[in-house]
Amino acid sequence: MNVLGEKWHMFAITGTTGNVGGEVARNLLGASQQVRAVVRDLQKGESWAQRGCDLVGANINDATALASAFKGAEGVFVLVPPNFDPSPDFREARATAATLRAALDAACPGRVLYLSTIGAQTTQSNLLTQHTIIERELGWLSMPITFLRPGWFMDNCIWDVTPATRNGVIPSFLKPLDKPVPMVATADVGRVAAELLQETWTGHRVVELEGPHRVTPNEIAATFTELLGKPVRMEVVPEETWESLFLSQGMKNPTPRIQMLVGFNEGWIEFESGEAGSRKGKVALETVVQTLIEREKKS
Ligand SMILES: NC(=O)c1ccc[n+]([C@@H]2O[C@H](COP(=O)([O-])OP(=O)(O)OC[C@H]3O[C@@H](n4cnc5c(N)ncnc54)[C@H](OP(=O)(O)O)[C@@H]3O)[C@@H](O)[C@H]2O)c1
Repeated sequence: MNVLGEKWHMFAITGTTGNVGGEVARNLLGASQQVRAVVRDLQKGESWAQRGCDLVGANINDATALASAFKGAEGVFVLVPPNFDPSPDFREARATAATLRAALDAACPGRVLYLSTIGAQTTQSNLLTQHTIIERELGWLSMPITFLRPGWFMDNCIWDVTPATRNGVIPSFLKPLDKPVPMVATADVGRVAAELLQETWTGHRVVELEGPHRVTPNEIAATFTELLGKPVRMEVVPEETWESLFLSQGMKNPTPRIQMLVGFNEGWIEFESGEAGSRKGKVALETVVQTLIEREKKS
């Protein structure tokens, strides 16, 4: 029940057409929950309407549309689209944070799950500071909020499929190549997010999530070797070339992305509660890479 005594009747999910949001929606539908898919492009979201979702259009920068999409929700899953090239003062994240706070404040849903990231507590500036800013702003809200902080997505291996298949060498920004990195499958992130959203809790809580075990870049190469049936190895991209490489790819401000990669490599991007305190997912790297290889074959 909300403060007016009206019955909650559904879960509103942003980013439904993406990796994690899609998994959240699938898991909630599988649990016989009513789902409102909040999409920026109604045509792109049509398949979710066919699966039984209520389809609502809202851009992440539109507080009025978001408030109306979140109204009456028992739980809201909030996903902010990735921005690899933010302004030096992170003004985009600050604007999104203010928009989300206003929308949630106006809609007053029963509870909120915000998809954050490993390292959101870190005080050193880097790409993930965007989530630090948004977590802090949502922290002013009075409703129950879970900040779900997953590790590096295993699904980022999508970028490795073509180099692994074509020439057997995957460029790696993560180093050293035998350093275990906290990674997790988006299938686990979405499943856990859906489970958490169906719980009741009070106040604000942080849940940190990684896969069954930490993954080294060399393990990624070994997984491709096994699945492709041909030798695949990692090759470190020299750090002194990162800035010019990212600029040549069209980035305007590569510094936050470089700082994030350094943070993973130096280990200061880590869970607040360390490996011992994080929740563990079930999906193995091999399952994710197999799916990605099949997806690339079809595309
Ligand atoms: N990659 C990692 O290793 C990692 C690790 C931890 C946390 N994260 C966080 O996870 C999030 C990304 O999750 P993901 O991989 O599921 O993303 P994704 O697959 O790229 O999906 C992004 C979703 O956001 C939607 N979207 C894009 N722009 C929008 C806008 N202006 N208004 C409303 N919706 C918009 C997209 O809709 P369309 O389909 O219409 O484009 C899509 O549904 C980011 O917040 C990222 O920081 C990532």
